[in-house]
Amino acid sequence: MENFWLKKAAEAWRVPAGTPTGELLEKVRGAVGELSNLFTTERPRDGRFRDYMSDPKLLAAYGLFFFPQSFARADFAVRRLLEIYDWEPKKDASAPLRILDLGSGAAPCGFAAAGIFREKFPGREIVLTALDRSRDAVSAAREIAREENEASGNAPKITVEPLVADLKKLVPAKLSLPPQDLILLGWSLNEAVPATDDAVPFLKNLAPLLARNGALVVLEPALRITAERLRRASETFAQNPGNPFYRLAPELGAHPCPLLREGVFWEHEVRKWSPPETLEFLNRTLFREIAALKFSWCALGNAPGKKFDVPAEATDVVRLVSPMESTKTCLRFVCVNPKGEKRSVEIPTRGLSKSEVKKFAAEWQRGDIAVLTGTLSPLGNEGHFRLESTGTQTSGIRQFV
Ligand SMILES: C[S@@+](CC[C@H](N)C(=O)[O-])C[C@H]1O[C@@H](n2cnc3c(N)ncnc32)[C@H](O)[C@@H]1O
Repeated sequence: MENFWLKKAAEAWRVPAGTPTGELLEKVRGAVGELSNLFTTERPRDGRFRDYMSDPKLLAAYGLFFFPQSFARADFAVRRLLEIYDWEPKKDASAPLRILDLGSGAAPCGFAAAGIFREKFPGREIVLTALDRSRDAVSAAREIAREENEASGNAPKITVEPLVADLKKLVPAKLSLPPQDLILLGWSLNEAVPATDDAVPFLKNLAPLLARNGALVVLEPALRITAERLRRASETFAQNPGNPFYRLAPELGAHPCPLLREGVFWEHEVRKWSPPETLEFLNRTLFREIAALKFSWCALGNAPGKKFDVPAEATDVVRLVSPMESTKTCLRFVCVNPKGEKRSVEIPTRGLSKSEVKKFAAEWQRGDIAVLTGTLSPLGNEGHFRLESTGTQTSGIRQFV
């Protein structure tokens, strides 16, 4: 999709054909910086974001810098939902799988999900409805689909249905759309509902749009204000199961968030990735943090989610809510189990070389789900444990698969 956005940028900046890509990207960089500031330091306090997607330069800059990041983050979340949390759309195989991307922009999240559906449910027709207030953005989504479908040979086509609508004015449930298997809100909730307001009423309104066994995936910035608001909403639904949602992910149970209760750190995901070269080039003088994708997310559904039982041979199953840190004597991380119990865990590293410790720490990321197979011994402080390996396990911890 990179060529598509380079073409859009060349049109927006009216550069002559044959202009070297680097020269074009130098022109785009300022617009990327403008957008980046708008999403972080210069966020409108009243939540009134201007319609930046309708400015051809900002749309192209978004496409080159933020589109790939949204795509990769949504790919991660939807894949996890299917592969780890065992969610899947359950529907007659002759009916199309429907994805509704709300505040879609050019639909990076929708395309990521459609790609996964195409891979996991081969032969199924996929209809992606891209809703945004910007006509230019949803038109771009349709153009991308046309190019992608042409390039994908005999694979079933992804049909994009663009829909121009204002999420602030319209109760989304009043859209006359067929039931949707997957509804996505990619970094649009905080623009449609100011981050200081409760997100529950808006999300509740989406429930009638979901097909049976459908899922609603909300992706938000990892900023404290947006991440905590999302956790509060997810908690409200988890505590009132079925009214109208159950919690599907990323927590391992329907428990309140211990980090939210403590109010010091906030829950979010951190994922390493390989940014496209154009994105790295654009970032050369912008110095934004692009080596890892940080975001906050939740998945809700109208049927109960997976129950994470502790495997027979294990001590616990947990989700990491901190990075894996190494000290001189141990590796350290904070995690939460399906009951919502927060644990600070140390793994002694005696006998391991510095490079072995570094390699081990690099295998773990915030948001990973781990099976603790060793013995957990309480340390002095409440909730602090040492994890000692048992049997053949060298570390007492392994990835949950
Ligand atoms: C940060 S962008 C995210 C775009 C895309 N979902 C992604 O993940 O990259 C937020 C999107 O929400 C759209 N948006 C903001 N407020 C909206 C509203 N009230 N109604 C419809 N779309 C809105 C913007 O036009 C923009 O495309």
